[in-house]
Amino acid sequence: SDPDSLQDFCVANLNSSISVNGFPCKPDAEVTLHDFFFDGFIKEGDTTNVFGSKVTPGNVLTFPGLNTLGISMNRVDLAPGGLNPPHSHPRASETGVVIEGKLLVGFITTDNVYYSKVLTAGQMFVVPKGLVHFQLNVGEGKAHAFTAFNSHLPGAAILPLNLFASTPAIPNGVLTKAFQVEDKVINAIKSKFGS
Ligand code: GLV
Ligand code: MN
Repeated sequence: SDPDSLQDFCVANLNSSISVNGFPCKPDAEVTLHDFFFDGFIKEGDTTNVFGSKVTPGNVLTFPGLNTLGISMNRVDLAPGGLNPPHSHPRASETGVVIEGKLLVGFITTDNVYYSKVLTAGQMFVVPKGLVHFQLNVGEGKAHAFTAFNSHLPGAAILPLNLFASTPAIPNGVLTKAFQVEDKVINAIKSKFGS
């Protein structure tokens, strides 16, 4: 859902001092074949973290040839029991395909209706733009999927980190009221994310 391109390509100059909506184009003379190919998905992501999952982005920041084309992809790796935690993409719908393993894939609508299904290799899913969603590895072994977006930089608001690991922190009074729990519960959650 990014705006349409006005030229064949506009390989991002990520280091420009000019600030625009997106990234300015590299001069054509500096464009090489390397701008249009990306090796970042060859390697499995390192899932040794609290969530047991790793999203490797293939977006304009890692793959500058995508600039202005309105598309990008991620590789999502999950250890057994690993979770790609509830998050939303403000600028894109998402579709994905499971390559390996068994994933519980779910999203929640703005009316709080929850849609989910367990998927295995070859099965696809879609998450409408902006809706909160997750993937949980419910299989015995590791799992991975590839996801695709209609934005060169979909953005991701990761709910647990947004709410409990922001800088500066959201005041406890906001979170105790929002979640109807005591201060100590909020502190316990915040401490899990090192804040
Ligand atoms: C999965 O939800 C992803 O954002 O890649
Ligand atoms: Mn997502």
